[in-house]
Amino acid sequence: MARYEVIGGTPLNGTVTISGAKNAAVAILPAALLVDGVCRIENVPDISDVRILLSILEGMGAKITKEDCGTVIIDSTDVHCTNPDAELVKKMRASYYLMGVLLGRFGKAHVALPGGCNFASRPIDQHIKGFAALGADVEETDDYVELNPGPDGLQGNRISLDVVSVGATVNIMLAATLLPGQTVIENAAKEPHIVDLANFLNTMGARISGAGTDTVKIKGVEQLQGGTYAIIPDQIEAGTYLAAAAATGGNVLVKNVIPKHMECITSKLEEMGAQIINYDDAIRIRCDGRMQHTTVKTRPYPGFPTDMQAQICVCMVLASGVSRLTESVYETRFFGYCSELESMGADIQINGKTAIVTGTDKLYGATVTARDLRAGAALVIAGLAAQGTTFVKNIHYVERGYERLIEKLTALGAQIRRIED
Ligand code: EPU
Repeated sequence: MARYEVIGGTPLNGTVTISGAKNAAVAILPAALLVDGVCRIENVPDISDVRILLSILEGMGAKITKEDCGTVIIDSTDVHCTNPDAELVKKMRASYYLMGVLLGRFGKAHVALPGGCNFASRPIDQHIKGFAALGADVEETDDYVELNPGPDGLQGNRISLDVVSVGATVNIMLAATLLPGQTVIENAAKEPHIVDLANFLNTMGARISGAGTDTVKIKGVEQLQGGTYAIIPDQIEAGTYLAAAAATGGNVLVKNVIPKHMECITSKLEEMGAQIINYDDAIRIRCDGRMQHTTVKTRPYPGFPTDMQAQICVCMVLASGVSRLTESVYETRFFGYCSELESMGADIQINGKTAIVTGTDKLYGATVTARDLRAGAALVIAGLAAQGTTFVKNIHYVERGYERLIEKLTALGAQIRRIED
């Protein structure tokens, strides 16, 4: 077990460089199994979810070489396994992408149900609906999903998702890329990582159009060939550093970002009083004085991301006036961190899908527990802004998704260290 010790009260100052996007990496790395040849994937974040995923792929027969600066080379020529290691699969959420990949490459899969951050009930019925529409015979138990070709074989189809789901959109894209015929996903998710996956697959020879809109079309191809691809910067990691700069009253240049992906976040921070300057691939945030209250409702992209709910909540906790934060993707997400923030002096009333946050000008150090990745990041931000010392426990959640967090924050002047218990 390890925890962070955060000594708060220092405004963040300096430059931070954002890593490759976790949620793009966890889709693109398994997608390399669809490729007949060698993929060179750059800007892969070194985080625990990626390390687990690479172990799973290796166990399935992929040859993996890691180079410096986040480059991973994957040769999946010898992959033969359709039954990835269940214990590893259960350690993370995005391992469910192996279902789509294996269905697409081998026409069958036996994959344990995924684990990962458990902040809400996270059904996969839309993934299953997609696989079935593509012609798979699906057996789902409490432990695993088994996919086999149905009586009419596997082929493209039109699928309208009942809810906008990142995971289902990705999984259907993965499954359909090598199937005969055309697949159309309606009511698809539009997140930047969906576009990134489509760009990766198209670079390797796929024929995917419409990614980033609510209709994605996949014309099946017989084969993908190897190539080189660089993963986009992480929207949520960048948003987390922007929120940390705002909460501590800092002045930070956040480099290696796509400002367009950040608009939903920067516009709210501006509304709260932060000064934002956009450059081609960087954003400067400066925050003098106390922020003001605001209203945020999380929505699928291009709306305000649910994965920034907890971090913006810390900004609201420290702002003047009463803010309203409404969650429309995962209703129970507040329970991962609000009581912890309250133990640091926050005033948050949860009323169904909405948190009413009454601002305070001071938070106080406390011992708090991370219950999921973004909740953990928010507690670190609260610790950086608080008076005194905060200990954040359960940091394995945070390490799922933030590369070199301590190093990056320390370079910005934060007093934070990892303590191994
Ligand atoms: N949903 C269903 N049925 C499904 C799939 C989803 O009802 O079959 C519902 C969910 O319950 C939720 C909504 O649809 O209410 C959206 O879920 P989605 O499928 O989009 O979420 P996900 O693919 O499981 C990804 C990210 C999450 C992020 C969500 C929403 C990855 C690996 N994970 O999860 O990221 O919160 O999209 O944007 O891409 C994180 O990075 O901390 C994280 C949790």
